[in-house]
Amino acid sequence: MKKLALLALPAAFALALTTNAFAADGKAVYADNCAKCHGDDGKGATKMGQKLGAKDYTDAAVQAAFTDDQAFKSVKEGMKKDDKTLMKPSELSDGDIKASVTYLRTFKK
Ligand code: HEC
Repeated sequence: MKKLALLALPAAFALALTTNAFAADGKAVYADNCAKCHGDDGKGATKMGQKLGAKDYTDAAVQAAFTDDQAFKSVKEGMKKDDKTLMKPSELSDGDIKASVTYLRTFKK
């Protein structure tokens, strides 16, 4: 546990430097903005997630189907299938979107 904290510290620093000081906590951003559809565990097994067809992000194949850039764009600009809105364009800052996508990546098994 101690070792893990030591490893995580420089990463957190790097993130704070490259994004901005207010946008580092991907887990919190995800919990507030994404979990109602994608689920706390990334499986999309929530009521909203199932209704809209959210995929299982613990599945490596699902994660491999899009790049970080694509993910960023889908969240920022929203995602549609035919006339149905899957995700609305996000009002989060770019840094928060990146942090939440980075967090979403951690669900991969
Ligand atoms: C209203 C429900 C909803 C919310 C809120 C939501 N999503 Fe989605 N999201 C979906 C659905 C539905 C899809 C399409 C099915 C899929 O790929 O899981 C999707 C797709 C995605 C994709 C795949 C993009 C691609 O190009 O294939 C990513 C990445 C993603 N969401 C991340 C997020 C993040 C990060 C947040 C929070 C900032 C978020 N979503 C919030 C419903 C939602």
